[in-house]
Amino acid sequence: MAFQKHILCIGAGYVGGPTMAMIALKCPQYKVTVVDINPRRIAEWNSDLLPIYEPGLDDVVKTARGRNLFFNTDVEKGIQEADIIFVSVNTPTKTFGAGAGMAADLQYWEKTARQIRENSDSPKIIVEKSTLPVKTALAMERILTSDSKVPFEVLSNPEFLAEGTAIRDLENPDRVLIGSRETESGLKARAELVAVYANWVPKEKIITTNTWSSELSKLVSNAFLAQRVSSINAISALCERAEANVSEVSRAVGMDSRVGSKFLNASVGFGGSCFKKDILNMVYLCRFYGLSEVADYWEGVVKINEYQKERFVMNMLQAMFNTLAGKKICLFGFAFKADTGDTRESPAIFIAKRLCEERAHLMITDPKALDNAKTDLKGVVGDIEYVADPYTAASGCDAIAVMTEWKLYKELDYQKIYHSMVKPAFIFDGRNILNHQTLFDMGFNVFPIGKPPLTHFKRES
Ligand code: UDX
Ligand code: UDX
Repeated sequence: MAFQKHILCIGAGYVGGPTMAMIALKCPQYKVTVVDINPRRIAEWNSDLLPIYEPGLDDVVKTARGRNLFFNTDVEKGIQEADIIFVSVNTPTKTFGAGAGMAADLQYWEKTARQIRENSDSPKIIVEKSTLPVKTALAMERILTSDSKVPFEVLSNPEFLAEGTAIRDLENPDRVLIGSRETESGLKARAELVAVYANWVPKEKIITTNTWSSELSKLVSNAFLAQRVSSINAISALCERAEANVSEVSRAVGMDSRVGSKFLNASVGFGGSCFKKDILNMVYLCRFYGLSEVADYWEGVVKINEYQKERFVMNMLQAMFNTLAGKKICLFGFAFKADTGDTRESPAIFIAKRLCEERAHLMITDPKALDNAKTDLKGVVGDIEYVADPYTAASGCDAIAVMTEWKLYKELDYQKIYHSMVKPAFIFDGRNILNHQTLFDMGFNVFPIGKPPLTHFKRES
């Protein structure tokens, strides 16, 4: 069958892989190819064990792979064939030179732009999928059009999927955002990309803007989401002092329809590859434009997140009689959120390192993220064991600290766990997912986030 369009995606990561799988599923009339410079990743995409764990992804890939979805490492051939090229290579925070620790590292991005120019002999639409600083499309345009044989249009089409719910988010998105230049050729390219999504997304959910609004909207969306988590986490500290209950506060506040109830779960801190990176990116941009008050405001969101993680460790230390040396602590979960094996920027990394500094002995368990945990903690000085079974991991421990809100941790036999632990037994619920009163009644000393602790210690200090 001759395909109507050839779509290419460069970068087979958490974003590129699932997004292209969904386009291929919904648009059998297009050929969708995903390329990556990492041959191992591509081999995994072509195997039964996909490189990322994402509920529902296996079925989508199995349906489309070999039909109109292909994974390979031939970037050049892919570029030559393509009408539309999505670029989804990683754009991490820069670790060197100007803007180190803040700005985005655009070296892969620029290299990809040059590669596209060198291998193109027909007009192409280039779609920014990676999250980028505002005005990156301009740089892309300049590279593509200098010394080029063919016309290019650069569009911005940020990805809003969240890990763990990626398939649902892709299938039924709140909105699809497409930014373009408002020239005749820009509007034509915009219409072409709208037509791709219109195969399954209702027209009123596909919104179009100028390129810079689109690029900025992605950063602002993540900043707003992260800000909500930091806001409730800041309030959790106040609740612990004021004997208020953060769940009750967030329920009361969230029922105001102007505020809304989502993203108000107090936690040990937000993680993931995007929030911190995108906020720092925006902070850097604000400073670049001389907007230091605006930069400070948003930087506060990241600072509260750091504070929340450190506060969690200090609460553990204080509750456990100001020493953790030689104590066995079990981390329930290592992924940055449930339903993913991803550990990028997971609060568990920081907490594990801090607990090792306190010379605790760590037992780490997670249903999907143990391999990543081992990589993250490689070289960390300390006594760390990785155990798949949560009962075995908790046995003989002084404390359990819940790092990830995996459903399975809500359903464990805590009576059995209590009996296997050293007494007094502690639970620090960094996600407020457990039934605290029941645990207390079993004998645990329970320390939630933003709620009064439930302890069996009779005498006040
Ligand atoms: C994406 C976006 O790129 C990032 O900007 C956004 O903020 C989050 O989503 P993600 O898909 O999570 O990142 O990144 P990752 O899983 O690291 O995948 C990127 C892929 O690009 C990797 O497989 C890497 O091998 C590949 N790559 C990188 C290339 O194919 N070519 C390069 O030059 C660089
Ligand atoms: C985020 C955005 O939601 C998504 O739109 C964007 O494309 C990529 O970045 P993701 O990082 O995959 O997605 O997960 P998200 O569900 O946003 O959670 C981020 C972090 O915040 C997690 O560590 C999560 O546990 C934490 N969180 C979220 C809370 O601590 N409390 C909440 O109420 C919500």
